[in-house]
Amino acid sequence: MKNLLQFFVCLIIVLEANGKKHQVIYVRVGDKVELYSSQLPTSYYVRWFFEREDGPELADTSYLGRKQVNQGNRLSISTNSLTINNMREENFGTIVCMVKDDFKFTFPYLCILFFMLVSMKEQLPVIPGHSLSLNCKAETQRKRSVYWLKPTGNKATPFQGSVTKTAESQDNGEWECVVKDNGEESRFKFPVSVVDFSSASKYVYTSTNLPLSIPFRITPKEFVQKIPSEIETVEWLFTPITSSSQQTIFSFSPKNGQLKQKDPARELSYKNFTADGSFSLHKNLAKVEDRGTYNCSITFKNGYMLSRTLVIEVLEITPSPGTELISGHHLNLSCSTGGPLETGVTVKWVPPETSSLVKADLLSGHLIIPRVGTEDSGKWRCDLRRNTTTLTSAVITLKIGEHRKREETLLFSLSVFLFCNSHQHKMRQLRHRLCKCKK
Ligand SMILES: *[C@@H]1O[C@H](CO)[C@@H](O)[C@H](O)[C@H]1NC(C)=O
Ligand SMILES: *[C@@H]1O[C@H](CO)[C@@H](O)[C@H](O)[C@H]1NC(C)=O
Ligand SMILES: *[C@@H]1O[C@H](CO)[C@@H](O)[C@H](O)[C@H]1NC(C)=O
Ligand SMILES: *[C@@H]1O[C@H](CO)[C@@H](O)[C@H](O)[C@H]1NC(C)=O
Repeated sequence: MKNLLQFFVCLIIVLEANGKKHQVIYVRVGDKVELYSSQLPTSYYVRWFFEREDGPELADTSYLGRKQVNQGNRLSISTNSLTINNMREENFGTIVCMVKDDFKFTFPYLCILFFMLVSMKEQLPVIPGHSLSLNCKAETQRKRSVYWLKPTGNKATPFQGSVTKTAESQDNGEWECVVKDNGEESRFKFPVSVVDFSSASKYVYTSTNLPLSIPFRITPKEFVQKIPSEIETVEWLFTPITSSSQQTIFSFSPKNGQLKQKDPARELSYKNFTADGSFSLHKNLAKVEDRGTYNCSITFKNGYMLSRTLVIEVLEITPSPGTELISGHHLNLSCSTGGPLETGVTVKWVPPETSSLVKADLLSGHLIIPRVGTEDSGKWRCDLRRNTTTLTSAVITLKIGEHRKREETLLFSLSVFLFCNSHQHKMRQLRHRLCKCKK
């Protein structure tokens, strides 16, 4: 009879276990884990133990308002959960939850916590070209699969949860280790930073009225102080829009601590890039000659090269025949970057307030005004826009004189001339008379 009863009890435990009365959880050291008890009766007593139902008691709570935590301040208990903040290696194992009402205990509910080792061999940030080794290991013999997802979301070639490869800029970002056990997935995020070289966008817009800035930056900030020791050379190359020949603007080699400026005519200045990682070049006023492609390349001591190119678009207004005109004359205004515009980029003219064209939608790069008037005098602005964002603007000032004014001026000069002449004549006469008196 006694044997039969034991058999009966064991059978129930197995059935309960299959009905998810135990849970396997993969946790990383330092992470927080929240464990939930099974459904509670109205008059509940919940007790949490470590390892066994008669093991050390971690915490307990009851419907009478009791909430007791026995082991340090990393544990907190609520009605139906136990939270372990900042998991430590010694917390891994089995956690047993016992629920009882006023009359009987339910079967123990087990949470089995496995220790995950998610690590990287190298120090961050990793220099491109160096090796990158990521490790994701679980301290268990359970059947499971472990693999890594790259920042792009693609699966990395796995080797039992570890990845070893040559670091590239694309490896920058959040990697994720995925553990699959019995259909359940656990994910562990792991940020990796690889030295990268960035520029905000491929096209940079400015105009002949504005400064020129060619932005390049090395990231992350933590790498900046290593520039002199890890970088072999930095080189800026320029290909003008009008030519296909590339020329070196600057080159820098921290080895001898000197920046060699090869083309001083370009008037480009730079900041101290070992201070903030900015490899940008500047100039107070952009010129048409600055149009073209700029390539900045960084070669590391390990031979790996990172490079970025930027296209500098310099907007210019060209008036034909000029900016000083007489009313009634023909005027052509062209607003251009010297080449075709990027798709989605449009031109918009803004004439002076007084101009009769102020309300017109002037969206062409070439404006033909058959007869200008004095009201067209003033500042003409040309904007380059993408949707409603203004990328850059150029401005010219037109001076338009009235046609008649010229005749009036002529008349005025003539009268002054006549007046002077007659005045001189009178003076001569006076002197004559004075002389006479003297005599
Ligand atoms: C550039 O900045 C670094 C770090 O702030 C400093 O050590 C170095 O002397 C500066 N170099 C120049 C040329 O100012
Ligand atoms: C920039 O110039 C370097 C050296 O000529 C070249 O190897 C690299 O491919 C160029 N980069 C780009 C993005 O065109
Ligand atoms: C203005 O442009 C038109 C058409 O392109 C051309 O025929 C005319 O000669 C130009 N006028 C001036 C003053 O450049
Ligand atoms: C610009 O407009 C296009 C279509 O009109 C739209 O697809 C795009 O998202 C807009 N871009 C921005 C930056 O608003």
